[in-house]
Amino acid sequence: MKFNPFLEKPKKLESIIMSWKDLAPKPYKKMESSPYTRVRCILMNGTEYEAVWFSHQFHRHSSDNDLRRMMALVRRSEQQQQKVIAGLKPVDENLLETTIGYEQLAVDLTAFLAQHVKDKHVKDALDFALLEDFDHLYRYSNLLESDMGAKAEDYVGDYTEITPGRPTISHHRHPYDSVKRPIDNKKADPFTKCAVSIITSAEQQTMNYYMNLGGFYKNQKGRELYTEIGMVEEQHVSQYGSLIDPNPSWFEMCLMHEYIECYLYYSMLCDESDTNVKKIWERFLEQEIAHLHASVENLRKYENKDWQEVIPEGSFPELIAFKSNTDYIRKILKNTVENTANREEYCNINDMPDNANFFKYQNKVNEKPDEEAGHVVIENHINQFGTDYRFEIKPNPVSDLQNRKKDNNTLGRVKTKK
Ligand SMILES: [Fe+2]
Ligand SMILES: [Fe+2]
Ligand SMILES: [Fe+2]
Ligand SMILES: [Fe+2]
Repeated sequence: MKFNPFLEKPKKLESIIMSWKDLAPKPYKKMESSPYTRVRCILMNGTEYEAVWFSHQFHRHSSDNDLRRMMALVRRSEQQQQKVIAGLKPVDENLLETTIGYEQLAVDLTAFLAQHVKDKHVKDALDFALLEDFDHLYRYSNLLESDMGAKAEDYVGDYTEITPGRPTISHHRHPYDSVKRPIDNKKADPFTKCAVSIITSAEQQTMNYYMNLGGFYKNQKGRELYTEIGMVEEQHVSQYGSLIDPNPSWFEMCLMHEYIECYLYYSMLCDESDTNVKKIWERFLEQEIAHLHASVENLRKYENKDWQEVIPEGSFPELIAFKSNTDYIRKILKNTVENTANREEYCNINDMPDNANFFKYQNKVNEKPDEEAGHVVIENHINQFGTDYRFEIKPNPVSDLQNRKKDNNTLGRVKTKK
């Protein structure tokens, strides 16, 4: 029997408010818990951030104070959930170590979604950004060893390879090339509908993290790397956000948010190996069921609609699970490393017209390519250790990315065929 949160009996909203004690959970263990526990916490932190900010926007677009009071109550609960999840990060896990988790989440979540969505336009977007977060993981991992002497493989386990992807210097595109075609919720399959919102929240969480915390990094090169990669995350959030159907009403979007929260907590609890964290996912699923039923009530009261008009099949689609995606990522890397975005589509850099916006934007930001932070971080590592830092099961599938003594800063942005 598949789980359908609409058929569950909800708790009363007032009863789910938690005490300070509940808000101070026991963190996972940096080196002992599964790397995917860290990743799940980051995903759910981003999901709660989105829940909170969506609710603030909704309430600023309404003048009905009965509705706004109900939203304030649910939002308070979302904030409490977010605080608990943020508190699961251990005290001894620093900014850069957590960053490795952010990029591992981006890599393995994106790869999972790309292998399960049915919509080709959505899959193309996922495959495209996958190679970029994959490269971010590599750049940050080199910084980690240079600055802390730590090896990123100890944080990602042996689930995720660390090797160059599409080089970060090539990610910088004109803003017009981030805007894609939205899906149509009436036609899209349930998994795809959830996937576009989930990946948008996850990337948004990364974008926000770098926006605020990059400036706290302890040296200049590291700060510049956060700035550079932070700008790429803005592109990812724009790309994924543009895929979300913009037509539903505020009430329908609210229902969709709560449904996705239920779906994610249910997925996380089925996937979780840390017993303490698993209990939190269980408890929050219960809370989300209460939120969901409140939004069902609002939809009925204010728009006279049933939840089935928004989510015809209430049972969850296939659950999200974290696992190694090494073969899949290698295949996408081999076949599409030289791709870039051209308005709504993607194409090989060699097929981009010479007057494309891409080249104009690249020339602006990469005025001196050898000074770009992503490149310098690798070159510094090579100077310090003799080679770059990698964690590979076999050589990089792209021959142009196999040289461990010279960072390639032209692939994907300079034409190789005339
Ligand atoms: Fe929530
Ligand atoms: Fe990234
Ligand atoms: Fe990203
Ligand atoms: Fe919620």
